[in-house]
Amino acid sequence: MTTLWHGRFAGGPSGALQALNDSLPFDRRMYREDIDGSRAHVSMLCAVGLLGADERDTILAALDQVETELESETFEFAVNDEDIHTAVERRVTEIAPAGAKMHTGRSRNDQVATDVRLIVRREIGEVAALVLRFQRVLLERADEALEAGWYLPGYTHLQRAQPVMLAHHFLAHGWALSRDIDRLMEARQRSNVSVLGAGALAGSSLPLDPSITAAHLGFAQMFENSLDAVGDRDFVADTLYALSMLGVHLSRIGEELILWASEEFGFVLLDDAFSTGSSMMPQKKNPDIAELARGKSGRLIGHLTGFLATLKGLPLAYNKDMQEDKEPLFDAFDTVKLTLSALDGLVSTLTIQSDVMAAAADSPYSAATDLAEFLVTKGMAFRDAHGVVGALVQRSLAGEAALVDLVAANEHLGPEAASILEPGAAIARRVTPGSGGPVPVAVQRDRFAAHLEVEAARI
Ligand code: ARG
Repeated sequence: MTTLWHGRFAGGPSGALQALNDSLPFDRRMYREDIDGSRAHVSMLCAVGLLGADERDTILAALDQVETELESETFEFAVNDEDIHTAVERRVTEIAPAGAKMHTGRSRNDQVATDVRLIVRREIGEVAALVLRFQRVLLERADEALEAGWYLPGYTHLQRAQPVMLAHHFLAHGWALSRDIDRLMEARQRSNVSVLGAGALAGSSLPLDPSITAAHLGFAQMFENSLDAVGDRDFVADTLYALSMLGVHLSRIGEELILWASEEFGFVLLDDAFSTGSSMMPQKKNPDIAELARGKSGRLIGHLTGFLATLKGLPLAYNKDMQEDKEPLFDAFDTVKLTLSALDGLVSTLTIQSDVMAAAADSPYSAATDLAEFLVTKGMAFRDAHGVVGALVQRSLAGEAALVDLVAANEHLGPEAASILEPGAAIARRVTPGSGGPVPVAVQRDRFAAHLEVEAARI
């Protein structure tokens, strides 16, 4: 058993060192990216005359074989395969002795940075596709709600504020997820830079051509500075932030569904396939998916802050600390994907208790702002109108009479204003662009649907 650096060392590594140092258990996930990077590197070495065409071809064939072995899980790892890069190179060289030339002009430092950039590029595409799928679920639910004319109370401070269309609520979450798509695309763009050719930190004395590898791997840009190329993990932090923010949005959706499914709200019923029971209390139906969407966002935020702490003290260029990028990154991808798939199912199968929502929204106090605005249309200053209606609300709450009767009897308001308190009247009064009434929400719905098509093209 030899290490990659055995020439300089008298003895082998201790077990404790290997246990701490080895990254194979988690970086083997990048084997396709590692092999693609090697294909590009080997082709470049041949193009610049550092490898013969026959050597290139035997190495490429060996890389194909290694990929097949890894894919079919017949690849036999060796004790000294400390990471995926070591394992692939070791096996390629076993198959084809020319593999000993594969690492010419390359370091694991530019190799690993390349692999991580490639996997981020791929995984972000997968996450974005799941976000889009979930947005389409929200759009479907919005369409159904709009068609049926369902509305509910909008809340501030979790106190009933003003009625809004249920579609407006679904679309609000949809737009937030659009910003997540923007952030993911931005993180993908920052990752889409070729760093192969930076070597360990300072490039090479050999006539390498990094533009060939960059083109081969389909990178949009090439590194400008070899120290920065191997020392940069900003793109990992960017990705963790984009995933954390997405996780925070999913958490907020989860929190609402937990409230809505509670007996206290009663706004939705959860489908059996997407809820759980209690081992002890036979009557329970629990919103575990929504709670895990909320809970797992903590883990995503932890990955972001933990990784920033890892980076903050690192001098240029590569330091082994940077190996700590992979576990949070991969876990963040997995966590977000699992959460999106489950929430997607939960939201698409929700039963809407539209009567309960409407009854809550038709509480006469939810139309108080509309009463004040009615007075404004009659020429009263808003601050005065607010005072008039507020006083009636106070008297009604104190038990004097129903708000509708106080309104009907009021000298400024009267029967016309009292009609605003009829069920379903207030919601129809919201007409401004982007607001929660039926007419603007129908416009918004079309804009959102068009936006999803733009997103689909970007992803
Ligand atoms: N497993 C290492 C990592 O993930 C690969 C780079 C090793 N480089 C080195 N100079 N030891 O960062």
